[in-house]
Amino acid sequence: MSLPPGFLDEIRNRVPISRVIGRKVVWDLRKSNQARGDWWAPCPFHQEKSASFHCDDQKGFYYCFGCHAKGDAIGFLREAEGMEFIDAVKLLAAEAGLQMPEPDPRVRERTDRRTRLLEVTEAACRWFRLQLQTAPAAEARDYLKRRGLDREAEDRFELGFAPDSRTALMQALRDKGFDDALIVESGMAARPDGGGTPYDRFRGRIMFPIRDGQGRCIGFGGRAMDPDARAKYLNSPETPLFDKGRNLYNLGPARAAVARGQPLIVAEGYMDVIALDRAGFTGAVAPLGTAITPEQLGLMWRVSPEPVIALDGDAAGQRAAQRLIDLALPMTGPVQALRFVMLPAGQDPDDLIRAAGPGAMRALLDAARPLVDLLWLRETEGHVFDSPERRAALDKRLRDAIGRIPDESTRAHYAQELRRKRQDLFGGSSGRDLRQGRMGGGRTRTVRERRLAPPVAPVPANAQAADSLLEGAILLICALHPALVSEAETRLERLGPRDPDRAALLFDLLTNRDSAAGRRGLETLRADPNLVPMQVEQKTVGEAGAYLREVLDRLEAKRIFDREVPRAETDLDGEADEGLTWRFRQLGQARHRIERFDDNDTKDLGEDQTELSRQLSEFLSNHIWRKPPRR
Ligand code: UTP
Ligand code: MN
Repeated sequence: MSLPPGFLDEIRNRVPISRVIGRKVVWDLRKSNQARGDWWAPCPFHQEKSASFHCDDQKGFYYCFGCHAKGDAIGFLREAEGMEFIDAVKLLAAEAGLQMPEPDPRVRERTDRRTRLLEVTEAACRWFRLQLQTAPAAEARDYLKRRGLDREAEDRFELGFAPDSRTALMQALRDKGFDDALIVESGMAARPDGGGTPYDRFRGRIMFPIRDGQGRCIGFGGRAMDPDARAKYLNSPETPLFDKGRNLYNLGPARAAVARGQPLIVAEGYMDVIALDRAGFTGAVAPLGTAITPEQLGLMWRVSPEPVIALDGDAAGQRAAQRLIDLALPMTGPVQALRFVMLPAGQDPDDLIRAAGPGAMRALLDAARPLVDLLWLRETEGHVFDSPERRAALDKRLRDAIGRIPDESTRAHYAQELRRKRQDLFGGSSGRDLRQGRMGGGRTRTVRERRLAPPVAPVPANAQAADSLLEGAILLICALHPALVSEAETRLERLGPRDPDRAALLFDLLTNRDSAAGRRGLETLRADPNLVPMQVEQKTVGEAGAYLREVLDRLEAKRIFDREVPRAETDLDGEADEGLTWRFRQLGQARHRIERFDDNDTKDLGEDQTELSRQLSEFLSNHIWRKPPRR
């Protein structure tokens, strides 16, 4: 529908964006400034405890500083509620008290035509289903039974049968009053090349109706009964209803299942979707006989932030997965991720479930690997890295791949993860790996895919442990010496503990309150063995204050370091713009601050997190708080 100019602006002016978003989030009223139309909340698009999601009524836009989701009120309804553009406009227009414009006659005609076509496909769907119960379909019913499909499955997926006839469906549809042209346009019949009477397109096939997200029957897939048929599967041609690249089989039911907590699984074929559904994985979809398109990826991401791709474990399926990596990289981001199930060679989900049961499928789903692992496998599997040039070529391919990721933070994490994998492969600064690599001839070894290896933890646990330890120390000092809080207030506000009990403790300290969660947070800190030494010796407020500043320095420096090193490294290939210069200045300062009170060598700080953790524990327990024991 074409909207008159200014219509959307009028909606935006009349409906504050915070009203639309406020139905979905809980505002952080301490951080928000209601009078100014300036609102903050925990982001509805990614998991978080703090409020980094911002919306501005003046500008009519939202933006999340965490996951970078952004848009206007219409965009929000589309992303958060999965609404179609026009439905979002209708809803907001009603809220604004605006009349929706009348559709223009040409559009109206098109809509009417679609409605007629849908009547044809729905009639065909009913007719195919009836045929499945007739005598000529006995063989088809046997076939379905052999494949483990019962009546319930037939009903749920509305399976049907197209008899081996050139005229049967055509005649049935004519009898219902549809004219030949309409039947041909719906894709149910085809006209011979030289013209003449149309004939049934689907003959001697088991029929799978394909419905769009709104549940309308837009086309069919038909599986040949005859093993020698020219095409095992025949699909409806492109019609005004059926756009293969913009729809997914079973999308509507899968979306409902995902809303109930099921993962979104993307399989290759209709039979896989049905087998998955039967095995309890009701959030399954499949493309419609073509390779997955960018539009289909977009559809998946509107249903789930992390669809699981379960393509066949054969050569074609693997090639499809490779193509998908290239397709997805330029679109990937915090709420647009992918995971891949590694199916045993030659099996599709249907084969696997029949051979090994739903439990086997569950295990593979649990071990699904992120896109970054597939990228790594593709670039290293079967390669020999026995020369600097070959290793450099790998670096270049990885850099090129990372460079295609639009989201800055995602890019940085890819760089970090791939660097880690590269270090494992070549041996790096962490001595153990290096020695093992040398003894085992690691550098010349051909990389072989470890097919069903469990997924790799995305973030090194030690990096977080070190952060958490420093953060805990800061909170504990403040709890022991509340008088220090006001002086360090702004720095403490930026601390942003992820743990809810710690967050509550900080909130209590900042607002001079007392809550159960806060007390719990304090108890946990007091019991932390790393922090016990700090509590042994009583310190004066002055001494504790100096210590607090040092630990804050240390944590802030570490956070800048953790954040900026990977970012800066991914950007090294770009031009040295102002942002880059700024980052390096930050880096320099961070390094300076770290080195100021560290007598150990810190040059591997970004890489060797175990060592960092050890240094930190030492620093917290002995180095400053407790004076070195004197003889
Ligand atoms: P597969 O050949 O993997 O079929 O094609 P399948 O799903 O395992 O089917 P069964 O188990 O033999 O019955 C996967 C998908 O590729 C499309 C269909 O959408 C099919 O579901 N396809 C396949 C075609 O469009 N045409 C074909 O000839 C074959
Ligand atoms: Mn199969």
